[in-house]
Amino acid sequence: MEVLGFAAGVIGLALIALVFLVCRGAVRERRSSRAVLEASRRLSRGEIGFRVPGQWDGPAGQLPGAFNAMAQRLEDAHRSLSADRDMLSQVVAAMAQGVVVIDAAGRIVISNPAAAAVLGLRSGQLLGRDFSEAVPEHRLQEIVAQCASSAEAQASRVELQRPHRVLNVAAIPLSELPSGDILLTIHDSTEVVQAETSRREFVSNVSHELRNPLAAIRAMVETLETGDVDDREVVRNFLERISRDVDRMSNLVDDLLELSRLESRQLPLQLVEVSPAELLRDASARFEPLARQREITLVIAPAPPPLPFLNADPDRLSQVLINLLENALRFTPPGGRITLSASELDGSVEFRVEDSGVGIAREHLPHVFERFYKVDRSRRDTGTGLGLAIVRQIVEAHGGGVSVTSDEGVGSSFSFLIPLIPSH
Ligand SMILES: Nc1ncnc2c1ncn2[C@@H]1O[C@H](COP(=O)(O)OP(=O)(O)OP(=O)(O)O)[C@@H](O)[C@H]1O
Ligand SMILES: [Mg+2]
Repeated sequence: MEVLGFAAGVIGLALIALVFLVCRGAVRERRSSRAVLEASRRLSRGEIGFRVPGQWDGPAGQLPGAFNAMAQRLEDAHRSLSADRDMLSQVVAAMAQGVVVIDAAGRIVISNPAAAAVLGLRSGQLLGRDFSEAVPEHRLQEIVAQCASSAEAQASRVELQRPHRVLNVAAIPLSELPSGDILLTIHDSTEVVQAETSRREFVSNVSHELRNPLAAIRAMVETLETGDVDDREVVRNFLERISRDVDRMSNLVDDLLELSRLESRQLPLQLVEVSPAELLRDASARFEPLARQREITLVIAPAPPPLPFLNADPDRLSQVLINLLENALRFTPPGGRITLSASELDGSVEFRVEDSGVGIAREHLPHVFERFYKVDRSRRDTGTGLGLAIVRQIVEAHGGGVSVTSDEGVGSSFSFLIPLIPSH
């Protein structure tokens, strides 16, 4: 009996222990599920770094362990996605080409500063706004609409007025579906088109300048070749004119070469100490005889307080003064006056050539420094319109600038600034 009682006691104890263990396991599993539930709530609220806290062992630890591992992988993926997205936005922001993405509702969801700049808008004026409101340019809207309705890429050249710009625009659907997101890229080609136009004009100007003297030479040579011209005086006159035309053409070619070297900075300046007063004296002395012959008074303005020396290329600066004086003499009638002067101005020396000549009408003033620009094209004078373009290049190579003021019928005043401390 005693043995039976002992066995029953042991079994009873074992049962109690089992029940206790089962209950404890159930309690631990319930606690772990509650912790995992809480952790998932916090994760879904955006607390991407949150993990199920505590140490879990045994079967109850499996769920928190698996959850924490999954949360870690999620955090890693999130971090790498954010890094990719940041890099992409930096790339889009840094692009020289304008980029705009428009969603199916016509709203701008991505834009970069280049897009705003090229459309003449401020940086914040695109993002989040309706495309048709933000960019009221009819042609651009048309391209986007065509792309949306056809789900096919569109490309076109668009010209904007005020300020004038030439844009190369492409609209590309970002999904196969019609009316999905649309990527609009905008490339500002204004300068390329301008360069192309100016190249074409340049070639046509050069051909024009060469064609006339060449045609004249050919006609005179042909006449001489027939042998019908007996008059020695006529022959001499023809030969003189041929020689003059040849000189004119070779001057033109020299000027063109000079200008092209200056523009491509292939003519390095020989910088030395230069006295502005001496430059004026030399230039004036050179033109004195011609001025007297044309009954024009050529003077150097009363010497200002001593001028500082310049660090400049004296031959090039003489060339500038010679070009300006040549023009002043050509466009000033007898009895007129030309004044040369130099003065110190804001860390520069300002040179000035003033004349009491025919002057230049206001509408021509902004163009006189352009290649081949001549106010009066019909006038049969020897100029080709390259002198002032060369002047500007030389002055700019010294880090300075040129300017002109003029009154038609009263006279003109050309000036240029050479900085005391050269920037090159
Ligand atoms: N002092 C001036 N007075 C009036 N018009 C001027 C004067 N200087 C220049 N111009 C005008 O500007 C134009 C351009 O001058 P620029 O010196 O470039 O050419 P150009 O004198 O005609 O030819 P080039 O100098 O090549 O022999 C001239 O044709 C002339 O119409
Ligand atoms: Mg000239």
